[in-house]
Amino acid sequence: MDLTVILVVIAIFCITLYYIRTPGNLPPGHFKFPIFGSIFLLHKLSKRRNHLVFADEARKYGSVFRWYLGNQMFVVLSGMDVINEALVKKAEVFSNRPENKGEVTGATKGIAWSNYGQYWRALRKFTSRALRDFGVGKTSIEEKISFEIQFVIDTLQSADGQPVSISDLIRKLVANVNYEIIFGKRFDYDDRELDRMTELSEVLNNASPISAAIFLPEFLAKLVKKTDSEIEKKRKAVLNDIAKYIGEQIEEHRNTFDPANLRDFLDLYLDVDRNKTDEEDSFINRDSMFWIIVDLFVAGTETTKTALSWAFLYLVEFPGVQEKCQKEIETKINDKAIQYSDRDRLVYVSAFIMEVHRHCCMVPLNIPHCASEDSTLSGFHIPKGTVILPMQYSVSMDPNLFKDPETFDPERFIDEEGQLINNLPFVPFSIGPRVCMGEALARTEMFLVITTLLQNFKFLREDPNIPQSFESDANCSQLNCPLPVKLRAIKRKQTE
Ligand code: HEM
Repeated sequence: MDLTVILVVIAIFCITLYYIRTPGNLPPGHFKFPIFGSIFLLHKLSKRRNHLVFADEARKYGSVFRWYLGNQMFVVLSGMDVINEALVKKAEVFSNRPENKGEVTGATKGIAWSNYGQYWRALRKFTSRALRDFGVGKTSIEEKISFEIQFVIDTLQSADGQPVSISDLIRKLVANVNYEIIFGKRFDYDDRELDRMTELSEVLNNASPISAAIFLPEFLAKLVKKTDSEIEKKRKAVLNDIAKYIGEQIEEHRNTFDPANLRDFLDLYLDVDRNKTDEEDSFINRDSMFWIIVDLFVAGTETTKTALSWAFLYLVEFPGVQEKCQKEIETKINDKAIQYSDRDRLVYVSAFIMEVHRHCCMVPLNIPHCASEDSTLSGFHIPKGTVILPMQYSVSMDPNLFKDPETFDPERFIDEEGQLINNLPFVPFSIGPRVCMGEALARTEMFLVITTLLQNFKFLREDPNIPQSFESDANCSQLNCPLPVKLRAIKRKQTE
């Protein structure tokens, strides 16, 4: 028998086995080859950004389709209706996380990777309280952010029109705000300590949530996508370093702890730890604290920095939009210090920020969810344990919701009476019980940074003759990041 015949026989055997064992009414999609899963799709995913591949597949199979990595079934959700069905209407079933993902690092002990249930609820409640008590949603967080913005203004001013990496400056600003909330301290922008947490955020965000290293044995993962296993190794090393750092910070706080004066997130933890009043408090311990802090830095540094980097890229490449933002700030606020409460008056700036979220679609694929029991989506059978991938990109780029979705146009969020349209189904921070915990913080940071810097500077390309690319940085896999944004900032009084 020659090789072709043997391969044909194996293929027929696999297909037969597959159809015999597949329960009816699963969503349409890809065939599961033994060991690897949907190898043809995996091959495409290793060559192109995942959400772009999935968008093509959704055109072929529809708004709910399935594929496999190893033995694990994945279902991709495309379009607002089915995303809403899974994350809101059937939230009780579809709010778990895939187990394999967290097990690799231990991250199931934090908020972002723990299953929907009592433990997750206790951690979320504690963290919401901590974020609230230490400023989020209050003027005190605005003061912290404005204090950091002043450092960025000073740096831009001393650069005197020379190219500056705005991405880098913003990363430091955002990290310092997090440091203040959690550890009650900040660092100078040239202090290496400041890079420790930002490195963590970068490394963890760069590991794809559907990484082969998580769902396949290591030797097979290397064959599918070599870089995945390398990222996993780096991730473990960075986590060990961070564990040591957080341990030191807890000890430092314990030595200076005063229950009458809770200074930050760590003090709140020490307070709950010494005085546990209900069952939920028993989940707040050193281990869970470590993972909550990791989650806040990972979920809250690279994200806001990336969204702001995109914002400055659009401002530089669309000078007309930049001018309109500045004109509005000038007319409505002039040179008074801007506050978050001014956003209602700054309609065009608010529309610009919404369009940045929509057009760059920084989180094109949500953090994966998982089915906790057998259920249905759009009438298809979804077995317990299926990994669910809500595709935000499909909503942002839906031509039925947004005319000419590829065009960058803040005016689409302003109605004929000049009012902000904010009831469009549009989900950059996700929806349902697992909605982003840092939404209020991220929105405040974005608004204050953009408006205050626009009040002070005109932003220009690094080189006037070379447009900055809108291509995504291939090193980011979970987030859609721009290539590092460099620009020139000219003090506004000099230009007008
Ligand atoms: C522009 C900035 C941000 C965007 C676009 C964003 C977006 C998201 C998205 C899409 C999710 C997944 C929700 C789901 O699974 O359905 C998420 C989860 C999360 N985010 Fe954000 N995020 C941002 C900033 C932040 C900040 C500043 C923090 C905290 C300091 C934060 C903390 C979290 C946490 C803890 C989760 C996990 C929630 C859970 O699993 O219960 N995020 N975020």
